[in-house]
Amino acid sequence: MKNTTPHWIAIGLLSAILVAIGFKFVVLGNTAKADDGRTAVLLEPAERQAVLGEMRVLLETTQTIVEALAVNDMAAVDKAARGVGSAAIKTMDFKLRAKLPLEFKKLGFGTHYAFDEIADLAKAGKPVKEVQQKLVATMNNCIACHASYQLPVISPVGG
Ligand code: HEC
Repeated sequence: MKNTTPHWIAIGLLSAILVAIGFKFVVLGNTAKADDGRTAVLLEPAERQAVLGEMRVLLETTQTIVEALAVNDMAAVDKAARGVGSAAIKTMDFKLRAKLPLEFKKLGFGTHYAFDEIADLAKAGKPVKEVQQKLVATMNNCIACHASYQLPVISPVGG
């Protein structure tokens, strides 16, 4: 019984280290403070390109949805929104996922789920105004994330 104390100290230290590592990887991701006050998410060039490519798809999809809503083509709304729905999350690289801060992932995944909802509303034949309002709310995620994060180009070490 006398010599159990050191074990508890070791367990305590290990737990603290695990919590710190967990905080770093789950909450902060691979980030730094950017010059413009936003948080820079530090990614490899290919990862950065993949995220930006996905962003351009989001913009294009949003335009397609706005256009389809204007002409009451709910099948086109459903198809476009489903394309960027939550199914897209599964294809995300695990290494990249670990570099993204928790808040970034919440906003990002939340946006994909919101597009699922837009597709569901369109499929259920809901009024155009209701779908528009869901799109308005969804686009607040675009604004919030862009206001908080940037993706700087990182020159290779020694380059
Ligand atoms: C989870 C965060 C997040 C969400 C949500 C998000 N974006 Fe982005 N997006 C970013 C970041 C970070 C950048 C890079 C900005 C920078 O480096 O200044 C970016 C860049 C872009 C770009 C530029 C792409 C390029 O080639 O440079 C477009 C277009 C874009 N986003 C559209 C959208 C649209 C439309 C939505 C919503 C439907 C959206 N984004 C939602 C984080 C997000």
